[in-house]
Amino acid sequence: MTMPAEAEAFADYLVAHEHKSLLRFLTCGSVDDGKSTLIGRLLYDTKLLFEDQLATLSNDSRKHGTVGDDLDFALLVDGLAAEREQGITIDVAYRFFATDKRKFIVADTPGHEQYTRNMATGASNSDLAVILVDARQGILTQTRRHSFIVSLLGIRHVVLAVNKIDLVGYSQERFEEIVRDYQAFAKDFGFESFLAVPLSARYGDNVLEPSPHTPWYGGPTLVEYLESVPVEDDALARPFRMPVQWVNRPNLDFRGFAGTIVSGSVRPGDIVAVANSGRTTRVKAIVTKDGNLREAGAGEAVTLTLEDEVDISRGDILAAAEARPEVSDQFAAHLIWMHDDHLLPGRPYLIKIGTRTVSASVTEIKHKVDVNSFQKLAAKQLELNEVGVVNLATQQPIAFDPFAQVPQTGAFIVIDRMSNLTVGAGMIDFGLRRATNVHWQALEVSKASRAAMKFQKPVILWFTGLSGSGKSTVANLVEKKLNATGKHTYMLDGDNVRHGLNKDLGFTEADRVENIRRVAETAKLFVDAGLIVLTSFISPFRAERRLARELMEDGEFIEVFVDTPLEIAEQRDPKGLYKRARAGQIKNFTGIDSPYEPPEHAEIHLDAGHRAAEELADEIVGYLSARGYLG
Ligand code: ADX
Repeated sequence: MTMPAEAEAFADYLVAHEHKSLLRFLTCGSVDDGKSTLIGRLLYDTKLLFEDQLATLSNDSRKHGTVGDDLDFALLVDGLAAEREQGITIDVAYRFFATDKRKFIVADTPGHEQYTRNMATGASNSDLAVILVDARQGILTQTRRHSFIVSLLGIRHVVLAVNKIDLVGYSQERFEEIVRDYQAFAKDFGFESFLAVPLSARYGDNVLEPSPHTPWYGGPTLVEYLESVPVEDDALARPFRMPVQWVNRPNLDFRGFAGTIVSGSVRPGDIVAVANSGRTTRVKAIVTKDGNLREAGAGEAVTLTLEDEVDISRGDILAAAEARPEVSDQFAAHLIWMHDDHLLPGRPYLIKIGTRTVSASVTEIKHKVDVNSFQKLAAKQLELNEVGVVNLATQQPIAFDPFAQVPQTGAFIVIDRMSNLTVGAGMIDFGLRRATNVHWQALEVSKASRAAMKFQKPVILWFTGLSGSGKSTVANLVEKKLNATGKHTYMLDGDNVRHGLNKDLGFTEADRVENIRRVAETAKLFVDAGLIVLTSFISPFRAERRLARELMEDGEFIEVFVDTPLEIAEQRDPKGLYKRARAGQIKNFTGIDSPYEPPEHAEIHLDAGHRAAEELADEIVGYLSARGYLG
């Protein structure tokens, strides 16, 4: 996110240095490795600081008094960050500076505990990473983790900045030891270029000018290297991709598709395909507010008009017809988890890939990766900052490229549906063949015909509530009443299903998610059979009840909240389970040491603590009858 004033400054900066090539890089390191000091030093030495910022800096440094008479560059950068953070939350600060040869944008990612999220954000549009280590500390877990994430996110150019070299007496031996350590573990990361520099950000050794204290170092200074490292713009060389941001239709005569080209380039006359539908057409014109273009490439925001009327909406990808993205609803992917609440396989999240947002869940964690040894470890869930290889299923098929081929259309973020927070970032490895080879069998006898024979409208009555709330009692009565009038029903009950289909599942959060997922899928099959299905499960989490709802068509899901207060359910304690839970003999008991999230918009809300079961059952039958479910 950029503030307007800053956007303006940035635009001025780009204009002033228009003729120079641009290098975007990222700095990362542990908290005390000297990142802020290095960035401050770069900005100071390249003289792009404003005068008043310099004045503040020298005052602050004197006040702070940590570095004698020298300027404390960390104060400068932290000060800028504090300014920026007023009023807006920002995870990554972008700073810019220039030398005679090149202009630079550096993504400064703060090192607090949510750092992987910030790093992933900063890395997603960087060409190179400067990984800092403190010469006294050497390689730390965070160095490994950062390097791993940098490689995962497709950054191919790395500088290892061995900082605070002054504090180890400018020791060549120490420097070489750290470089050896680093190369030993980074050898499989596939970096295209690698440089290690001994430097002191505080005193400027080997930052801009070669240091007189490291005569043994024959390589370039950090800035010399950043100025010259070739990072050709790979995005332009890749096939044309433009995720459609919006359809621009100001009047009946004009229909344009607006978006940013994320890879490749396009010219009028090119044949393009709509990735999802496979329909092709030709580009008529590339429209911008400054007139039509003869060509546009990666990074440019344009509006395309097309020769034919094809069906395209926001979220579709326009692509080179001869090199199209794949389309699938199941993938293998690398996933970086970024939230305190761990990833739950089976739970529906949103994933955003390009301009498209779809519901998706992890169907399997194949393994997680130990960031120290890079070994594969078995895992049932992913915790904050962990990286896993997973299979993923989306609710609708999406167009994508494997990340290694076109990172721009192969990367996605994971969003929590309740909080709307970004909780993960992923890279698609490949689409799963089973998704493309298994087709839905079109059956001759339909749900409608099965239902018609039974003179009813199939539906799920989804009972939810605490253990002992009366779900099964009420559901049983409803089923009896329906049967008495000749309706065809089926009942799925928690205790029973857990004896068969779900006997491998317990009561951890992950197992409950899987329990409800299977029940929802099973109930859906029974609805397809034309039945009125009653499910009676605690189903404590909103996310999974929502998953069940979304599996069904409109009007096929009726949520029944059997609302009995905990005190009353506990008093009833029909199976003596509350007593045992209170005594600590049963763990993860709903309402005691495991949460229950009450429905917010249940179709039927029953005051089951105070009213008789018979009466409640009548209310439900009345509801069904009034809405035409009973024929
Ligand atoms: S759910 O949370 O996954 O939906 P489900 O409805 O299948 O639960 O099973 C709940 C039933 O299992 C309860 O009615 C109770 O009889 C039994 N049970 C055993 N242990 C627990 C527990 N730790 N928490 C809740 N119910 C438990």
